[in-house]
Amino acid sequence: MRAMMKTPHSDALVFFGATGDLVYKKVFPALYAMERRGHLQVPVIGVARSDWTIQKFRARARASAEKDDGFDEAVFAKLSERLRYISGDYGAPATHAALRKELGEAAHPLHFLAIPPSVFEKVVEQLGQSGCARGARIILEKPFGRDLPSAQALSATLHTVFNESSIFRIDHYLGKESVQNILVFRFANTFLEPFWNCNYVESVQITMAESIGGEGRGSFYEESGAIRDVIQNHMLQVVGFLAMESPTTTNQEAIRAEQAKVFRMIRPLTPEDVVRGQFRGYRQEDGVARDSLVETFAAARLRIESPRWNGVPFVIRAGKCLPTTMTEVLVMLKPPALGNLCPGQANYVRFRLSPDVTIAIGARVKRPGAELIGDSTELKVVSHPRGDEMSAYERLLGDAIVGDGTLFAGQDGVEAAWAVVQPVLGLVTPVHDYEPGTWGPSEAEKLAAGICGGHSPVWLLPPVKDGDF
Ligand code: NDP
Ligand code: BG6
Repeated sequence: MRAMMKTPHSDALVFFGATGDLVYKKVFPALYAMERRGHLQVPVIGVARSDWTIQKFRARARASAEKDDGFDEAVFAKLSERLRYISGDYGAPATHAALRKELGEAAHPLHFLAIPPSVFEKVVEQLGQSGCARGARIILEKPFGRDLPSAQALSATLHTVFNESSIFRIDHYLGKESVQNILVFRFANTFLEPFWNCNYVESVQITMAESIGGEGRGSFYEESGAIRDVIQNHMLQVVGFLAMESPTTTNQEAIRAEQAKVFRMIRPLTPEDVVRGQFRGYRQEDGVARDSLVETFAAARLRIESPRWNGVPFVIRAGKCLPTTMTEVLVMLKPPALGNLCPGQANYVRFRLSPDVTIAIGARVKRPGAELIGDSTELKVVSHPRGDEMSAYERLLGDAIVGDGTLFAGQDGVEAAWAVVQPVLGLVTPVHDYEPGTWGPSEAEKLAAGICGGHSPVWLLPPVKDGDF
């Protein structure tokens, strides 16, 4: 899927917000993995306000990297040698002057903004004024803005200093092997195309379940909620890959353009299309308002107004404190004409995106015995536990270093995705309580009602395997 690139490789990595949660949980493990594979060759500079010493920064990196099962001292020693730390205010010219000095000969730094979006503007401005933006690339994390107008304003700010080809917007779902596999499975297999449309597909259900709650990110989540946190981005990216037409090539522009077309064809959500939920106990978490109405669960029913998907409901549910942690897509086909041959589930294609990776096709075979009746079986195309494949962050950092933007979100798509959720942001729909450990408020079941050809009035839970619950 990689396009041929002739852009220069980045020669230094800079992390703003280097003391934060994202750098600890995702970036250090990715850097450590890159070092282990021999893929990291550049200095790594952390920038943050905290008055840390380089020793403290290295200790933080070690604590993160040590979580790797096969932690190797020699690998970490090499990574540790690369680390530098600059302490200072994000908007202070002195901080950026110190950064410019630390960058030394580096002519193509890669700046990663792992900071709250409210700080982006001053960092971008100072990067421009200090000369640190010259020849540079910049990485931002979702959510890109908090609604359509702020996403447009953010883009305008970035463009005052960086051109579009130097901006890398991370939606880490695009960096997941399992998500890329949707694209490859769809377009590398001719057999799928004849039934991948409204003539045969009855519904598409996507579940992103997390058993964790706020995990100390209460104040972040209060600003966000499930719709902004995962539906507008991760879930719509998955919908985009499931629903798009074949790109003309596998280069970044072609794939991004087809995805953005899907987002533009999704009818903007109305209050009737959405159910919001909040798990009991959320309001007691640190950083959460005692009367918060922020959703920790959201279900949405989408319609894609295209000839291919005419009338096919795409239903998504995503939430915290659900019974398990897994993300899965179920593409349900319509029942066959001889429905009495197969009572229960019709054929389906199932993509388990995490934690393990599965692509399976639900089929029917004759039940042994006198009766002419079908039993359910699953043909597994891919099935493997999380292995030694690159994490999404390792993959995406590596791609940004070489200037390959294929797996990053494009501004067109970001804006089109905001337009889908814009009418239901905030408090336009009520928030319903649900018990932790359940599948969200019962109201969410109404969204799925009637989508399964009468076989089941509720969400079709994915086939349960040992250890799932
Ligand atoms: P944190 O809240 O941990 O903040 C990162 C760092 O920014 C902090 O260590 C702090 O460093 C500095 N900071 C925090 N608040 C402020 C403030 N009000 N003004 C100036 N500096 C501040 O954020 P995360 O690491 O969780 O997230 C960083 C970015 O990544 C955000 O845009 C977030 O939306 C995104 N993201 C995070 C994910 C995660 O799992 N954490 C997942 C996906 C996206 P110091 O005080 O030392 O300067
Ligand atoms: C992040 C969200 O983008 O994705 C988190 O901010 C969520 O709330 C996380 O937990 C889930 O990512 P993954 O890769 O574990 O499915």
